[in-house]
Amino acid sequence: MNYFKIDNDYYLSPLKETDIHQLVKYLNDKEIFNNTLTVPFPYTKDDGKFFVRLCEQKKKKYGVNTNWAIRDKTKKLIGGCSFHRKYRRNSKKDEIGYWLARPYWNKGIMTEVVKKLCKIGFTKLGLKRIEAIVFSHNDASCRVLEKAGFEFGGLLLKSIRKNNKLIDGKLYFKEI
Ligand SMILES: CC(C)(COP(=O)(O)OP(=O)(O)OC[C@H]1O[C@@H](n2cnc3c(N)ncnc32)[C@H](O)[C@@H]1OP(=O)(O)O)[C@@H](O)C(=O)NCCC(=O)NCCS
Repeated sequence: MNYFKIDNDYYLSPLKETDIHQLVKYLNDKEIFNNTLTVPFPYTKDDGKFFVRLCEQKKKKYGVNTNWAIRDKTKKLIGGCSFHRKYRRNSKKDEIGYWLARPYWNKGIMTEVVKKLCKIGFTKLGLKRIEAIVFSHNDASCRVLEKAGFEFGGLLLKSIRKNNKLIDGKLYFKEI
C-alpha cells in the first residue's frame, strides 16, 4: 500500500517529513482552502509537521497506509489523496479526499488519481462503496468524480460548517 503508479509521469507514495516544504508551498492557496474542510489557511510548517505525523499515526492505528502524496517524476509532492477512515474499522465503505497544486490543474491528473484510489479501495482494501463529499460550488471536483465513474447521490443541504457558515455538500458514490 506504499507505491502506486498513476502513469509514466505521476505516482502515489506515503507522505514524509521532507514533503513539508512542498505542502507549505502549495497549500497556501485560498482556493484549496475554500474547497476543503481540514486544510488550514495560511498553511505553516507546523501544519505540515502535524499532518505528516497524523498520517503516520493513522498508518500505525490501521496497520495500513491510506494517505498518499501525489508525486511527479522528480519525486516532488504535487498533491495529496486519502481514504478518510470515516466509518467503523471493518466497514465496507469509506470516503476519499484529494487536492492538487494549482500549476497542475486541468491536465486530467486528479481524474486518474481518483480512478486509482477506486482500484485500491475495491481490490486492496476490500471496500464495496466509495464516497466523496464535495462543496456544492466545486464544479471541477464534481467533474473529476463524474469522469471517474461516480454517481451523484444527492444534495446535502446545509451539512458542512465552513467559515462559521453552513454550506451545501454534494454526495457522490461508486459501488461494486
Ligand atoms: C478539484 C481538483 C482536485 C481537480 O483536479 P484536476 O487534476 O485539475 O482535475 P482534472 O483535470 O482531472 O479534471 C478537471 C475537470 O473540471 C473541469 N473544470 C475545471 N474548472 C472548472 C470550473 N470552474 N467549472 C466547471 N468545470 C471545471 C475541467 O475542465 C475538467 O473537466 P473536463 O476534462 O471535462 O474538461 C483541483 O482543482 C484541486 O485540487 N482543487 C482544490 C482542492 C479541491 O477542490 N479538492 C477537492 C475537494 S472535494
